[in-house]
Amino acid sequence: MNTLPNTPADLTDLINLFDVEKQAAGVMTHMAYEYVASGAADELTVRWNRESLDNLKLNPSFLQDVSKLDTRITLFGDELPYPILIAPTAFHKIMHPEGELATARGAGAASATYVVSSFTTTPLEEIANVATQPLWFQLYVQDDRSLVKDLVQKAESVGCRALCITIDTPVPGVRNRQDRANFRLPNEIQAPYMHGLGDQKKLLTWADIDWLQSFAKIPVLLKGILNPADAEQAIQTGVSGIIVSNHSGRNLDTVPATIDVLPGIADQVNKRVPLLMDGGIRRGTDVLKALAHGANAVLVGKPICFGLACGGADGVSKVMNILRTEFELAMTLTGRTTLTSIDRSVLWRPY
Ligand code: FNR
Repeated sequence: MNTLPNTPADLTDLINLFDVEKQAAGVMTHMAYEYVASGAADELTVRWNRESLDNLKLNPSFLQDVSKLDTRITLFGDELPYPILIAPTAFHKIMHPEGELATARGAGAASATYVVSSFTTTPLEEIANVATQPLWFQLYVQDDRSLVKDLVQKAESVGCRALCITIDTPVPGVRNRQDRANFRLPNEIQAPYMHGLGDQKKLLTWADIDWLQSFAKIPVLLKGILNPADAEQAIQTGVSGIIVSNHSGRNLDTVPATIDVLPGIADQVNKRVPLLMDGGIRRGTDVLKALAHGANAVLVGKPICFGLACGGADGVSKVMNILRTEFELAMTLTGRTTLTSIDRSVLWRPY
């Protein structure tokens, strides 16, 4: 195993996403690993995201013709070959020297849409220059509204296809592990669009969502919805999509697993807008379970950070390809050949 941060790692031994995390732990600095791997407080929500996915059992149907699969999905006018996106995560240069450029190249190699964080450590123009697949932009709304407007317009001008407004972080959570690891950005790394490490309070209300939609030219999604009432209000406010997320358990500990709140939100949304989910997706069967509970697509966060740390662009594309292949196998083995055929009947229920 490598002992120096970011010496090139051998990716051939990485068979699943848990292997990627293990290898990343050996190549990342302690501070960067703790930043990525940790959750808020007692990390109960981090654990529940995984446990709830693990506890869902599958109900396969055999003797179907599974010789051909169709995993394509169209989101906001772009056809994605499979329903897994790269979630926005901050500070990629602490994970790999090429930072977000490597992530964008890896996304391109894996034909994946990449949601760039407001806390990118690389300017948006540079990321857009190397991207060969759609980019979306994740927005943290800061106090200076003219800067917010400039940033949205910059994202639009470089070609970002959608805007994900993160609503679950008026303040960051109780981040004991990060604090213990004394997390801070090294001097040579900057996040050009954000002031500080996100530790100031961000005032964001439904009125601001109206304001953002009054000038945004690209579809607006809200990221961080955790209950049907907020999902309904989001739709009434006119948003184009919803991302069910608990920020990977990094903000408010003891909120439920996203897979547990998803069915109620899916019933409320009732296909009026695309519904995405993230939190703990590590296996192809997890993607299948999220779609069965009503998501149109999922996102992955930590595994991308770990893949990036292990092997730059190659590590990112490896993570996406492993998950995509596992998802295709899960579809084949449950007898579901299209995304629309993945419904709750693929989940086992006691008789
Ligand atoms: C995040 N997440 C996040 N979300 C966001 O809207 N803006 C951001 O800048 C970040 N930054 C960030 C950093 C790191 C290191 C992690 C792990 C996560 C949350 C992210 O978008 C996503 O919701 C979760 O990571 C999804 O859960 P998993 O796949 O990481 O379990």
